[in-house]
Amino acid sequence: MRRPLVIGNWKMNTGRDDAISLARDTARESRDAAAEVAICPPFPWIVPVAEAVDRKVLRIGAQDCSANGDGAFTGDVSAAMLDPWCDLVVIGHSERRSVHGETDELIGNKVTVALAHNLDPVLCVGEHAEDRAAGNAASIVIRQLNAALSDLSGSQFGSLTVAYEPVWAIGTGEAATTADASAMAEVIRAWLRDRASEHAPAIRILYGGSVSDRNASELMRVSELDGMLVGSASLDAAVFGRIIAAIPGQTC
Ligand code: PGA
Repeated sequence: MRRPLVIGNWKMNTGRDDAISLARDTARESRDAAAEVAICPPFPWIVPVAEAVDRKVLRIGAQDCSANGDGAFTGDVSAAMLDPWCDLVVIGHSERRSVHGETDELIGNKVTVALAHNLDPVLCVGEHAEDRAAGNAASIVIRQLNAALSDLSGSQFGSLTVAYEPVWAIGTGEAATTADASAMAEVIRAWLRDRASEHAPAIRILYGGSVSDRNASELMRVSELDGMLVGSASLDAAVFGRIIAAIPGQTC
């Protein structure tokens, strides 16, 4: 049985004080949640936010990590530096792939490094609109999975989460239909069954891309989906709270 996971990706938003109050308000919304809930603040707010909330109620994630260990990597933040404050790390978000030119190979290295430092990797995969129009959505996602996860074996798959995030749905207000999200989650699950064998049933598959309090319930009726990766809607604790409450089995 997979416990659902809802992650709020704050991206490059919030100042110090509003980050702390947003985290506290989000923790309040998460207290009785059926889902596990996590937030990914910008790097400088990770420590004050982690100190302001109960991490058993609200998990803390990073939006990225370096593929390298310590050393001359100006501007990078290593997985070892994040380890004391974070439970998980988002890797391969489409904004990292497109704005920062991250390759499949680099993303694979980041997954390996995160696992070596006790951070649960949340690997983002997803196709561009042109890929989908050309009928290549599934093959693009399979290529991304092959590249990022080829070095993983056995129990390493146990702490992995995969987020299906069609690029055309991110920040556009146009979420994938439940039919499309379901079809792509099936593609990902089939790949995991093939490559992660007995660990595959435990790996959570999230949907991300214009999730809102209006579409969350419908998306969560897709049986292969185990939660959501939420961007802009996670910047309002009340809205994010309604998204968390869309997870079936909510106790209050
Ligand atoms: P969005 O972002 O919810 O604002 O579309 C999702 C994401 O980038 O993870």
